[in-house]
Amino acid sequence: MNPTETKVWAELEAHFIELKQLTIAELFALDPSRGKQFAYDAPYWHVNLAKQRLTEETLKLLLRLAKEQGVQAEARAMFRGERINQTENRAVLHTALRQMGGEDLIVEGENITAQVRAVLGRMEVFCAKVHGGELVGHTGKPLRSVVNIGIGGSDLGPLMVYEALRYYALEGIRVEFVSNIDATHLVETLKGLDPEETLFIIASKTFTTQETLTNARSAKEWLLRGLRAGEEAVAKHFCALSTNLEKVEEFGIAKENIFGFWDWVGGRYSLTSAIGLSLMLGLGVENFHALRKGFYAMDRHFLEAEEEENLPLILALVGLWNNNFFGAESLAILPYDQYLHRFPAYLQQGDMESNGKAVDRQGNPVRYQTGPIIWGEPGTNGQHAFYQLIHQGTKLIPCDFIGFARPLNPLGDHHKKLMSNFFAQQQALAFGRTEAEARAMGIKEEVLPYRVFSGSRPTTCLLAEQLTPESLGALIALYEHKIFCQGILWNLDSFDQWGVELGKELAGQILPLLAGGKESVPSDSALAEVLEYYFKKQNHE
Ligand code: F6P
Repeated sequence: MNPTETKVWAELEAHFIELKQLTIAELFALDPSRGKQFAYDAPYWHVNLAKQRLTEETLKLLLRLAKEQGVQAEARAMFRGERINQTENRAVLHTALRQMGGEDLIVEGENITAQVRAVLGRMEVFCAKVHGGELVGHTGKPLRSVVNIGIGGSDLGPLMVYEALRYYALEGIRVEFVSNIDATHLVETLKGLDPEETLFIIASKTFTTQETLTNARSAKEWLLRGLRAGEEAVAKHFCALSTNLEKVEEFGIAKENIFGFWDWVGGRYSLTSAIGLSLMLGLGVENFHALRKGFYAMDRHFLEAEEEENLPLILALVGLWNNNFFGAESLAILPYDQYLHRFPAYLQQGDMESNGKAVDRQGNPVRYQTGPIIWGEPGTNGQHAFYQLIHQGTKLIPCDFIGFARPLNPLGDHHKKLMSNFFAQQQALAFGRTEAEARAMGIKEEVLPYRVFSGSRPTTCLLAEQLTPESLGALIALYEHKIFCQGILWNLDSFDQWGVELGKELAGQILPLLAGGKESVPSDSALAEVLEYYFKKQNHE
């Protein structure tokens, strides 16, 4: 059912009309204890929602919405392996990838847990051989550089985690990521790498993705040229992560170097599958499992916690409240930790590819807002760039502030300064500064309007003890499940991504034109016009 058709929706609308009159400062004045009231604990994470524009009544109504939409029943169906990805007729079982206890999961007669265990086991053996120098390159040298070639879910997840957990990276092995079809990415990455010591991981769920296959072919040429060797060298320097074993073999990668996964793993949810091989190689087997442990802890919380304490569900409801009632179009993800600098980009795919949809699960156009625009940068960098608009612009931008109590690099007072900004920004956004306060500070009348901050801009505070593989895994799973809940609340299929197909098809039609192999007239006059310029400049005219 669409959320707007639920019984509680009209009540939410009526409640909103009353609540929107109150600023966050007024909410605190009405109930000074709200700081404690809206605090939540989940594995590895402590979250405070008191600086959101809501009351207990708001959460009560929102939880009724979740009930009416059957969010928890749908979650259980997902964990059981029902085919909840309707448009692709597939199960959605990324949770099985990190299952670390309990009974084996059997779905449609297949032992999913055993399959996952088998691939993880092969990955571990492979990593041990690379780390131990048993697996060597074509010329007998140890493999010291790993280049993961993939895009989207086959890149962003491993890249984000590798960056986030760099502190824990193994010495003596370097991991690089190439995604863009722009040759610059590959060329610049390969500069300084020694082909004799380089292992390429070709990561592609479908093994049909243009960017990845083009980069893989060019990497192969670079390798064979560098080694002055023939195709026989490929077996020692290439492995593949894919569900499409036939296509991988066609590419010429040795069977024993193929690590499979399954169609029930969505690309953007795949980092604990074989897609994480670069992580296992770069961070070590133990850290990879510690990451899975964090995921698993949050999975259990999501499955078992009561609705009122269920953090992914609560975050999803608060997001919906900002999105569908306050009309917020975006959500800023602001990690106060440099290691998390790719986290917003990773979440962009996770959220926007999942819930960037305008057709409901019954195939009808929706008449309400769905997934938000996700963006962000680490703090404090963002403070000196785009925070101005969040503080004083005309748009309402809810923000997730993500921070840690203990730094990994305890240098002088850096962390105290970092975190004082973390807390201060949330305070400034919530309470702002009134005209009277500005005046009392002695601010001159002529600049007074510019020095006033309206405040009442909602933020969520997410804190963990320290950035570890476990806390990172739990954080990712927290957002994954939040996105899942929102998909159900908005009545969307969060697990397909048909919207990316049209552009791919058209690129396929335009490519022959650019390659000059086909006489064809561009179908729109703007394209014809820019192509004229493009061809002229190609010919130095
Ligand atoms: O085009 C979008 C997409 O299909 C993503 O969903 C996916 O993560 C990415 O491309 C890469 O796909 P693959 O892993 O099959 O190469």
